[in-house]
Amino acid sequence: SAAEKGGWDSFMEKEIHEDPTAVNDTLLGRFNQAGDIVLDEVRIEPDVFRSIDKIIVVACGTASYAGMVAKYAIEHWVRIPVEVELAHEFRYRDPILTPRTLVVAISQSGETMDTLMALRHAREQGSRVLAICNTQGSTIPRESDAVLYTHAGPEIAVASTKAFVAQIVAAYLLGLYLAQVKNTLFADEIHQIVAQLKAMPAKIQRVLDTQAGTVEATAKRLLDAHSFLFLGRHVGYPVAMEGALKLKEIAYTFTEGFAAGELKHGPIALVEAGEPVVVIVPSARGRDTLHNKVISGIEEVKARGAYTVAVAEEGDSDVGKYADVVFWRPECPTLLSPLVDVVPLQLLALDMARLKGYDVDKPRNLAKSVTVE
Ligand code: G6P
Repeated sequence: SAAEKGGWDSFMEKEIHEDPTAVNDTLLGRFNQAGDIVLDEVRIEPDVFRSIDKIIVVACGTASYAGMVAKYAIEHWVRIPVEVELAHEFRYRDPILTPRTLVVAISQSGETMDTLMALRHAREQGSRVLAICNTQGSTIPRESDAVLYTHAGPEIAVASTKAFVAQIVAAYLLGLYLAQVKNTLFADEIHQIVAQLKAMPAKIQRVLDTQAGTVEATAKRLLDAHSFLFLGRHVGYPVAMEGALKLKEIAYTFTEGFAAGELKHGPIALVEAGEPVVVIVPSARGRDTLHNKVISGIEEVKARGAYTVAVAEEGDSDVGKYADVVFWRPECPTLLSPLVDVVPLQLLALDMARLKGYDVDKPRNLAKSVTVE
């Protein structure tokens, strides 16, 4: 009903506007007075956490892209390898699992059968499983050794939005907790990252408040395009994958997301006049040399006639040279940028789908949770 949608036209629109709250609420109650991370609900002993020497994330769809984002942060902070595996591929490849492997099952619904089967396999092999889940008491957390709940609130629209940002936050809390117990970061560093995380809801809100008009105009401009490319590098890569997934899920547009560095190894062959190419541009600050590389990727597709849409940091003076339109993100640390960069891509998919007259909450052929293998 209209009341359930809180005045919004669709659940998806409502849920995108709940991105800031989902991030905020997932951070709530996870720190002590000193600012250290306390994951009381996660009933795995600190000694067991200290012994973990590898993480394997298993998930499907959007949750798997949250896992890909987490890989960049956790490897950087904790210095242990993090693999991300689609849950349905996982157990059929005879993965290497030991008691020192932590398998992290990410699932909004907690009912995805592929993910459930993957975690059962991991436990049979003697690994510990921690679920990152948005649904209290669902099957995946019940069958896991531990659970870290995301507090995004119920997600009704089939295409996942606020759960994605909450999953990233939960995985980051896990990474920071591991860094804390394994002493791979100083307490000061952890406190600084936590402060930066706490600043993210306001930055997401700013994107919602200031970029929605540009996104809608872009959706109108690109409504007749029959395919879209999305590219990004480093943490921008999973964001590109998620942007591509959203658009195909609800606007039924053929999309491909890929790592920006792959452009010259294949996808550039697809670029012809008018092809929309959405590019996640990393910050130009500091020593981030990736910025120049991604900018030259935009230049290359632009030279071939692409219609270029960039997601870039406010104040980036290079991006305007080659981008036809820019969705601006407030300044934030690179590792946290997916939390804001995905927001205009969620809005873009929403706007394209509703301008085409589709049911954005219930796209054809898809289910909110897939409880068969
Ligand atoms: C289905 C949904 C996707 C979701 C995926 C994983 O395919 O349509 O939106 O990302 O399942 O769902 P989960 O509940 O495990 O996060």
